[in-house]
Amino acid sequence: MTAANSWICLILLWIAAETNGKTPDVQLTCIFSEDCVLPCVFEAVGDEMIYWFRQNVPIQSYIQGSGRLDQADQQYNSRTSLFTEMIPSGNASLHIQKCGPQDRGKYRCLVTSSQETTEQFIIVKVEAPIQSVSLETTRLSGFEEVICSSQDAYPAPRVNLFTEPASLPDSLQPFTRKTADKQGLYSVESKLKKLKDLTYICLVQSFYRSQTWRASLQEKETFSVEGQDLIIPCVAPWKLQNFTLTWSFTKEHKSSTIYTYDSLTQRSSSVWKENMRLVTPRGRGGDGSLQLHNPLSLEHTGTYTCILYAHQTKHEVHTRVNITLKPEKQQSESSPQRWIPAVITGLAVTAVAAIIGIIKSGCTKSSKIHGEATEMQPMRVTVANSRAASEDTCLTEEIANRPA
Ligand SMILES: *[C@@H]1O[C@H](CO)[C@@H](O)[C@H](O)[C@H]1NC(C)=O
Ligand SMILES: *[C@@H]1O[C@H](CO)[C@@H](O)[C@H](O)[C@H]1NC(C)=O
Ligand SMILES: *[C@@H]1O[C@H](CO)[C@@H](O)[C@H](O)[C@H]1NC(C)=O
Repeated sequence: MTAANSWICLILLWIAAETNGKTPDVQLTCIFSEDCVLPCVFEAVGDEMIYWFRQNVPIQSYIQGSGRLDQADQQYNSRTSLFTEMIPSGNASLHIQKCGPQDRGKYRCLVTSSQETTEQFIIVKVEAPIQSVSLETTRLSGFEEVICSSQDAYPAPRVNLFTEPASLPDSLQPFTRKTADKQGLYSVESKLKKLKDLTYICLVQSFYRSQTWRASLQEKETFSVEGQDLIIPCVAPWKLQNFTLTWSFTKEHKSSTIYTYDSLTQRSSSVWKENMRLVTPRGRGGDGSLQLHNPLSLEHTGTYTCILYAHQTKHEVHTRVNITLKPEKQQSESSPQRWIPAVITGLAVTAVAAIIGIIKSGCTKSSKIHGEATEMQPMRVTVANSRAASEDTCLTEEIANRPA
């Protein structure tokens, strides 16, 4: 009975204390499988009794002076403890080892002494943060799908997989699955059928909204003509501040990095020096689009992969680029030796023009005549395009400058 009376007394005291300015509840997030310390401090006078409760179930108690430690709840017996050496200085924090889902809840630290009674509430959440998110295409079901997945998070995160532009609601509904392992950690997976020319976006948000991971994936195909400058877009759906950009090129199963840029150090490296540049200087805001200058069919046809990485964010674009020869040239040689017949033709045309006697008037006039000559010979467009051949006085100089 006396015990019950003292409890009632405590509760009354607590109510009184509460009206005089209650200490606000402490919100605490403990990390899954790590140790956690639930704070509880008081003004030590020396005869304190300390009680810890979880969801109103007593789990630990300690009586100063006697040094008696009671572990009320067997479930917590092995994993919770008080820093008994800290109690005389007013620290009754509770130590929980290897936090798990069972440790969530509302804890109460009750300290009574001959002087006063204090009570503190601690709301404990347990979280296993998202560590990674992957967004990729697979063919596991026999058709192409885009799968967004994340492993080992707690509580189960929310997954939102969608396309941009938004596709027809019926044809594209993501199928989402969440599974828990023995420890209680969740794996989530969401998949969508893959359609052409869509950007797939996946947002994975932790249960308590403390983290949002973003991933996007795009696969495209582009045709272009040799010699024509080409832009391969890579624009993240989000503004990015601190990011790294990597472009790689894959041809016949061989992949190599052709460009990298780090926005923090502002360092870049480029393998195809003068043949490429970024469309937006320093990829500002997350625009990593690449411009290919004077691409060649043989060398530059292949798959270009752009990856933008930022904090909890990844944007990936695969572009299959097919650079075809110019229509007029398709039957002719595409080897480097093509310059030899071109030069010979140029010389021949110039000679013909000289014979006709029009060339006497000089460079400008001859180029006009030359233009007419090539229209009649569509196979020699290369020559017509080069100023060298149409301006006889500049001819030797230009040829000397040309790469072998
Ligand atoms: C109480 O003691 C624990 C264990 O030494 C420590 O982690 C915590 O910071 C202490 N709290 C205060 C308020 O000193
Ligand atoms: C980018 O990095 C700088 C330097 O580390 C930092 O001060 C800034 O807050 C970061 N910005 C973002 C959006 O992460
Ligand atoms: C590029 O396009 C041409 C014409 O459509 C096609 O014949 C060729 O096979 C393509 N090359 C590659 C590598 O896809």
